[in-house]
Amino acid sequence: MDEKAKTGLDRTLSVAPMLDWTDRHCRYFHRLLAPSALLYTEMVTTGAIIHGDAERHLAFNSEEHPLALQLGGSDPADLATCARIAQERGYDEINLNVGCPSDRVQRGSFGACLMLEPELVRNCMSAMLDAVDIQVTIKTRLGVDDHYSYQYMSDFVGTVAESGCSVFIMHARKAVLGGLSPKQNRDVPPLHYDWVYRLKQESPALGVVINGGISSVAAIKDHLEHVDGVMLGRAAYQTPWLLAQCQAELFGNQTNIDRETVLESMNGYLQRQVAAGTAVKHISRHLLGLFQGMPGAKVWRRYLSENAFRDDGNTDLLRQALAAMKSIDARVIVSD
Ligand SMILES: Cc1cc2nc3c(=O)[nH]c(=O)nc-3n(C[C@H](O)[C@H](O)[C@H](O)COP(=O)(O)O)c2cc1C
Repeated sequence: MDEKAKTGLDRTLSVAPMLDWTDRHCRYFHRLLAPSALLYTEMVTTGAIIHGDAERHLAFNSEEHPLALQLGGSDPADLATCARIAQERGYDEINLNVGCPSDRVQRGSFGACLMLEPELVRNCMSAMLDAVDIQVTIKTRLGVDDHYSYQYMSDFVGTVAESGCSVFIMHARKAVLGGLSPKQNRDVPPLHYDWVYRLKQESPALGVVINGGISSVAAIKDHLEHVDGVMLGRAAYQTPWLLAQCQAELFGNQTNIDRETVLESMNGYLQRQVAAGTAVKHISRHLLGLFQGMPGAKVWRRYLSENAFRDDGNTDLLRQALAAMKSIDARVIVSD
């Protein structure tokens, strides 16, 4: 893939932008689990950057690289301004959100409803590409409401590609703008992986990344037979150890880390962050799923949930939760 050579970004595995979930604490944690994954921020609107607290929205830990900033907006000049700011701050990629169906986003005329305006999206991408040297990508869907056919999707991609955008992250289902909540919009419209595979087949020069409903290493390997990369959303967040398994099986390294080592690193991070004024719960909440599917997972989850809110300055929380779990079931740590 040409773009990979240009930017050095490896798209084999990425973790999706997820509002309220993939904040910088979450990304620090994911980075420990999967050093080779490309990480995405939550969506940040151009308005929040230009008129709001840019520092709060854009700050990240240097360990998070490679890191993409996802923008929400539809004004080419504003997007270009934000792309420039993001490049100055050291982001590795800018991504435009053309997939979010929420009412709030629709009122702002961006997100998924932009699929109805391919020329405007092309102009947005052009403006950002002209403004920065880092890569500018798009995350979109297969269609929106009745504008939903392989041809519509492929024409949309073709128009946007005229801007020079060469990486398309495809959430492999359509968006329904009236009647479905954002949550339902992640499950109800059926997945069509075959459309995404065909897009790659018909446009081999484009980088195509597939997203939606992917939750195992085996499934990822299957998809990689057809496309350039896989983006994990909920599975990465809810069962984060999957990221460590991906790192080992897709990249063949970091094969011997265990949860306890990761926890020790997170413990150090938590202590540094709390000293700088962060509340413990803002970090610990991202670790609730670390033992998902293992003996002791419930104890871990309950201990963190109950205690993180009780004492926001308790920097020993993670160690205590681990001890609580071990005291109940000694198999926890050895049975990776
Ligand atoms: C809590 C949550 C927040 C999300 N926020 C965003 C967002 O800010 N930008 C975006 O493009 N997609 C967002 N998504 C959609 C995901 O990026 C992804 O496309 C979707 O969850 C399907 O992938 P999955 O089945 O692997 O979860 C969000 C999903 C969840 C669960």
